[in-house]
Amino acid sequence: MNSAVESLAEFKPEAAAPAEAPQAKILLVDDEPKSLFALQELLSTLGQNLMIAQSGEEALRLALKNDFAVILLDVRMPGIDGFETARLIRNRERSRLTPIIFLTAAADEMTSMFRGYEVGAVDYLMKPVVPEVLKSKVSVFVELHRKSERLRESEDKLRRLAAHLISVREEERAHIAREIHDELGQVLTGLKMEVGWLAKRLKEKELIEKTDSMGKLIDSTVQTVRKIATGLRPEMLDDMGIIAAVGWQAKEFQKRTGIRCRAKLPPEVKLDIDVSTTMFRIFQEILTNIARQSRATRVDIELDVGEERIALDVSDNVVGIAEGDVTGKKSLGLLGMHERALLFGGEVKITGSPGQGTRVCVSIPVRNGKS
Ligand SMILES: Nc1ncnc2c1ncn2[C@@H]1O[C@H](COP(=O)(O)OP(=O)(O)O)[C@@H](O)[C@H]1O
Ligand SMILES: [Mg+2]
Repeated sequence: MNSAVESLAEFKPEAAAPAEAPQAKILLVDDEPKSLFALQELLSTLGQNLMIAQSGEEALRLALKNDFAVILLDVRMPGIDGFETARLIRNRERSRLTPIIFLTAAADEMTSMFRGYEVGAVDYLMKPVVPEVLKSKVSVFVELHRKSERLRESEDKLRRLAAHLISVREEERAHIAREIHDELGQVLTGLKMEVGWLAKRLKEKELIEKTDSMGKLIDSTVQTVRKIATGLRPEMLDDMGIIAAVGWQAKEFQKRTGIRCRAKLPPEVKLDIDVSTTMFRIFQEILTNIARQSRATRVDIELDVGEERIALDVSDNVVGIAEGDVTGKKSLGLLGMHERALLFGGEVKITGSPGQGTRVCVSIPVRNGKS
């Protein structure tokens, strides 16, 4: 089974029911064990997972491995102080947006506030903290954290659903293409032979002419059937591979649109069929856009297959995609391209220069030989 289908198998709608909300992690940082204990006592009623650190270093280590809903950070600590700890935490990708509440002693308040703003503090609390204020502030961040977790989960589900739909559609198309090609093809070939048989036995000129035109109709129907089947799923992709399929599609495109296509292609390689299909469908989408939007007079295509990745680079001339369209909400075709590539760990980069054209670069990791 192909891997897109495997990922489908993991998609279980019944698993979508929200489970008990998992505990959010809260980090308490203070060099004084007594203060830490007091904070723990205070926040224990929130029912969340409280983690503690007695130094900036320890806090940094914990922030490397955990996603905290909020970090309560004592400003005055020996070693790395609270500000420096916050700065280092914020410098890391994982904890870039983690909310931090500074705990400052009254005497330091003004300077603390100014320095705190520089490192992007979310809030301040003066020691000794007022229990209700602390609890309500922390609760807000816990709720926020939970909401963004839920958002991330639903994004993840939608992505898997999209993957599921793409792969189902691809399989269905391949199946219908084969049925049309094989079943209808066979019937038509049989019919053609029957008509031929009949023609040989006919004497009357008018009837012979009739069988002739029947034969021609059958031939053109065979052509149509082939065209439909190829449109659904090019045999070339399965039989010969991605390089041949891209070359063939480029030629067809040139024939159909009159836009000159130059394709630089490497020798054929054997790639995972799902990766080939993904690349091919993205290529088709790029060409459709060019035909519809670019007013191009030429298209340059370059396909490159390395040890690690297969890369496709397509540029057209003339219009040039607008910046707003690249990320636009209405650009569902482009979104589909991104999603398809993402499914295989790849990416699509689109750039446009107004009046000069659009360039689309696709790169997808290859899983050689697996098909
Ligand atoms: N090659 C191109 N040249 C110029 N504009 C483009 C090109 N490709 C896409 N666009 C712009 O980006 C928009 C979004 O593309 P897409 O998501 O494929 O949607 P659609 O093709 O259905 O309009 C298009 O409507 C068009 O304005
Ligand atoms: Mg489109």
